[in-house]
Amino acid sequence: MNLPFRPDEQYALELDRQDPLAGYHAAFHHPLDRRGNPAIYLCGNSLGPQPRLADEFVAQVMSQWRKLAVRGHFEGERPWINYYQELLPQLAQVMGATPEEVIPMGTLTANIHQLLETFYQPKGRRRKILAISGEFPSDRYALVSMIRLRGLDPAEILFPVAPPEGERLIPDEVFYNQIQRLGDELALVFLPAVHFATGQVFPLQEITRQAQASGALVGFDLAHAAGNIPLWLHEWNVDFAAWCGYKYLCAGPGNGAGIYVNQRFITNLDLIHPAGWWGNDPSIRFEMRDQFEPQRTAERFQVSNPAVLSIAPLYASLSLYLEAGLENIWQKSRLLTDYLGYLLDMRNSGKFKIITPRQPGKHGNQFSLEIPGGALTTAEALLERGVIIDERPPNIIRVAPMPLFNSFHDLWRFNEILDQVLFG
Ligand SMILES: Cc1ncc(COP(=O)(O)O)c(C=O)c1O
Repeated sequence: MNLPFRPDEQYALELDRQDPLAGYHAAFHHPLDRRGNPAIYLCGNSLGPQPRLADEFVAQVMSQWRKLAVRGHFEGERPWINYYQELLPQLAQVMGATPEEVIPMGTLTANIHQLLETFYQPKGRRRKILAISGEFPSDRYALVSMIRLRGLDPAEILFPVAPPEGERLIPDEVFYNQIQRLGDELALVFLPAVHFATGQVFPLQEITRQAQASGALVGFDLAHAAGNIPLWLHEWNVDFAAWCGYKYLCAGPGNGAGIYVNQRFITNLDLIHPAGWWGNDPSIRFEMRDQFEPQRTAERFQVSNPAVLSIAPLYASLSLYLEAGLENIWQKSRLLTDYLGYLLDMRNSGKFKIITPRQPGKHGNQFSLEIPGGALTTAEALLERGVIIDERPPNIIRVAPMPLFNSFHDLWRFNEILDQVLFG
């Protein structure tokens, strides 16, 4: 977007006046700084702020539990037996999937384990896994432990692609070349969709196309993508994916995770996967049979009965997302980050470097800044002045405005304060 941005405060306020989503600012509780004043909160990549509606949704579950106890499974305003089913259409829209392909459940790393267990099926020469180096450690632990559990040697199985020497970003071709190189030895590609430290968005559709053409399956960790960038998992024919709900989806700490599994697997009765009673076809779920009869949707992956208190705040935030309109959110996201880039460029006389790629489609709502002076001292100095961002030591700070929550004026104020912190 090439708006003729201006650096003055009046202009930021003018952008807010023209913002069709400005009203959603008030739909969230605003975190406080150390002095108890409203903070400038730019940390949605770590923990999204709390939607006011989440209070109501959680209170409703608590009240039902208080008043109905076990009867709450089947009675009350939103019976727990099918609580999760009500939000499948909303979740499906955010993920670009069909409602049958998604399910809110569990927690991210545990879900990754379950999906790897299901979809990593080494056969003959086809045993290798393409990942990235420098990924979020939990993903690496999941991959390595799963490989070991199969009695295989991670050194022979795992092929992490890395940025060129001395760089932080991974060019698209690095993925394509590695897929070509591994050829018929490639069993699985498992990658983050958005890199947690750099904010780089990887070419999900093309990676999927090329890896599948070579006969491999493809799964993504959407921790930093869900609710942050447009996703079309079904159209891209992605095989599986998992996400957490506490970042851009604003479901609260540890809450609201979920998975996507492509249509062709969920209807396949021969697919073997870790199973539990809640994955049974609901019509026989309570007959307590010995035999597992999977539901023909992603529900078959639910090993336990749903954690309703974890899903309730997700329900609230997805309602806000869809009421606001995903297209409107993506549009504001582009404008916010373009504006942030403009403000940062103005002040950037060599004190820091924006490492997140700036091209449209290559970043979401996160800009990572490399600060030679050190991430911790910068983050601490910002916090002292009422700004909450997060840091990845030794020298990266991550700044993540959220379209429904943040204003243009937040970014203007952030930039003024960063300027004081870095340039004195
Ligand atoms: C990319 C990525 N993977 C995995 C995790 C671990 O998530 P959890 O603790 O919910 O399993 C995180 C957490 O921030 C993450 O960012």
